[in-house]
Amino acid sequence: MDLLIKNALLKDKEGLFDIGVEKGKITRISGSIDGKGCPEINAEGRLAVPPFIDPHVHLDAVLSVGDPQYNTSGTLLEGIRIWGERKKTLTKQVIIDNAIEAVKWEVANGAQFIRTHADTTDPTLTTVEALLEVKDAVKDIADIQIVAFPQDGIFTDPSGAELMEKSMQMGVDVVGGIPHNEFTREDGVKDVEFVFKLAEKYDALIDIHVDETGDDQSRFVEVMAKLAIDTGMGSRVTASHATSMHNFNNDYAFKLIGIMKRAEMNVITNPFDNSVLQNRTDGYPRRRGHTRVDELDERGVNVSIGHDSIMDPWYPMGKGSMLQAANLLMHTAHLSGYDQINRLFDMISTNSAITMNVTDRYGIEEGKPASFSIIDAESPFDAIRLMSECLFVVREGKIISVAEPASRKVSCNNKEYPIDFKLKK
Ligand code: FE2
Repeated sequence: MDLLIKNALLKDKEGLFDIGVEKGKITRISGSIDGKGCPEINAEGRLAVPPFIDPHVHLDAVLSVGDPQYNTSGTLLEGIRIWGERKKTLTKQVIIDNAIEAVKWEVANGAQFIRTHADTTDPTLTTVEALLEVKDAVKDIADIQIVAFPQDGIFTDPSGAELMEKSMQMGVDVVGGIPHNEFTREDGVKDVEFVFKLAEKYDALIDIHVDETGDDQSRFVEVMAKLAIDTGMGSRVTASHATSMHNFNNDYAFKLIGIMKRAEMNVITNPFDNSVLQNRTDGYPRRRGHTRVDELDERGVNVSIGHDSIMDPWYPMGKGSMLQAANLLMHTAHLSGYDQINRLFDMISTNSAITMNVTDRYGIEEGKPASFSIIDAESPFDAIRLMSECLFVVREGKIISVAEPASRKVSCNNKEYPIDFKLKK
């Protein structure tokens, strides 16, 4: 045995477990395993969880906040304008350095699968080239999928379609689109149709930025769902953002969710960005910016959470923590019911494994790759509440990140009390 985890809790299972690891795989999970002197991690009753997944981030823009300027209005449109300015002087090396740094942040927070979008509207395709290099550079710590993402639209520029095709030829994994950014409804439909054709040609997954607006007339998710049914691409198709759903009338939303379920498509919601970018023109009352997470989840549509931005022109905050994203969504999506909080945990782990099509190598099970984290919590509920540290991140049997559990003492009446923010039973 190469590594033994002692005394770990597992989600949805009673009791403590030992996890035996050999040649990068989980070979045994049992109440008590004798490691015969092999290296050990004593989880001491903490939770072992499969890797967190960030299925939606823009690694070509991370850590760029303030360059060339801060977003003073906080709006999506100003963010796009600043990104346009930045693209003019952006070098490949800057993208690579920032992206690798952000991947390390996400890994330190327990993520080992990341889907990044790469802007294809720069004619040099520098972003695509850079992120392909990043994918290779970080392969020992994270699996990266790259989406060809036409930030400014596919048909708003004569070269848009060609740049998308070129990106696929360069080795990108997923085809993206942005129908609501095209000039007309007709071009938006063309955008979605183009994405499906390109994905079929390159046998690629689909992940479209769709209806990322408060406009309740933006209805391209229905076009995606229809094509997902017609092509049989089902769970290979993902609708990212889909924020206009929030503002749809309830009759239309009810019908649409039924079609999405039938299509077996996935949805990714991005609480950081969408809580600050959407419905900016509302004044008061001010609607929430995200899609209908509770209704989608209750009706069986696979919903995942993405980080989207980490310190870029659209969202100035973030540290690559999927637990923090889940915590925020609990508040903004009214998901504070006990079962809903557990569902939030699925939305940053198992649900995202379906979205990224990696279920065959995902999960804490005998025979699967030994990739998991030991987090400083005893339950998914507490992990989301505390946004807990990942004390150990293990990838294929190797420890790739360590953190010390925080230690605090409060002095009161000349006595010291250790504080760990956990409910005393
Ligand atoms: Fe996005």
